[in-house]
Amino acid sequence: MAYAANSNLLPYNSPAICNRMASSLPLQLRLPLPTNPPFLRHRPIQCAADRQALFNRIAPVYDNLNDLLSLGQHRIWKRMAVSWSGAKAGDCVLDICCGSGDLAFLVSERVGYDGKVTGLDFSQEQLSIASSRQNSLSKPCYNNIEWVEGDALNLPFSDGTFDAITMGYGLRNVVDKRKALEEMLRVLKQGSKISILDFNKTTQPITAAIQEWMINNIVVPVASGYGLAEDYKYLSKSINEFSTGKELEELALEVGFSTSRHYEISGGLMGNLVASR
Ligand SMILES: C[S@@+](CC[C@H](N)C(=O)[O-])C[C@H]1O[C@@H](n2cnc3c(N)ncnc32)[C@H](O)[C@@H]1O
Repeated sequence: MAYAANSNLLPYNSPAICNRMASSLPLQLRLPLPTNPPFLRHRPIQCAADRQALFNRIAPVYDNLNDLLSLGQHRIWKRMAVSWSGAKAGDCVLDICCGSGDLAFLVSERVGYDGKVTGLDFSQEQLSIASSRQNSLSKPCYNNIEWVEGDALNLPFSDGTFDAITMGYGLRNVVDKRKALEEMLRVLKQGSKISILDFNKTTQPITAAIQEWMINNIVVPVASGYGLAEDYKYLSKSINEFSTGKELEELALEVGFSTSRHYEISGGLMGNLVASR
């Protein structure tokens, strides 16, 4: 393993993501990337390897920026997402695209000592921070969390493993949403739910204009203070290329979920898809 911040961190065992050259390199050679490498700064984000590099790059400031840019509100939205997942004491829950672990920690508190939480991400840097937070926060229930380096499009778990699945700001970032939902359906137990929080691709022109204005005039300028302006410009593009709530509902039904409902949050700036198997 390239690093061992915590014994709960499991190695990456999924195959190539999209950039075969990058992912076929040994883990130690691929990561960690240097901070703000100049050769990546102005490259467009095109495939999974670019996205993986981006999330590794922004990992050190990701949590601070989330608090700053949402004025702390992302904590409320994440609590809502966990609540919608239906996770309860004793459950075995998967948090996909866990990043630095916010949702996994909330799920951990909910499922308690008898439950189990798996946080999965393909960014070693994000997982390393999640693992350090687990150690420093040292809430006894957080011992029920295991961090797994893996691909949302090829989950390293058996069919019907989990009682609930959460995902925060991940679906917009995977290169194949359908495949991600199919994988969730596969590893979910019959009758269980997924809860997916993300930016809402609104159909309301005024909300879209507000969202765009906030990204261009608040998010990107603040991120530029951290040398990450180019990385956060990707946000706008990723929302434009994302699906609307209605499209997400339809996609979930198409892949085989039996019910599917998308909820708008914070005046339509955010959204949460809830679907059950
Ligand atoms: C915007 S962050 C969200 C982190 C966290 N869930 C939160 O809400 O704060 C998106 C995360 O998705 C991860 N990610 C994107 N595509 C992925 C994939 N195919 N497999 C695993 N993780 C992926 C990135 O590494 C990143 O940590």
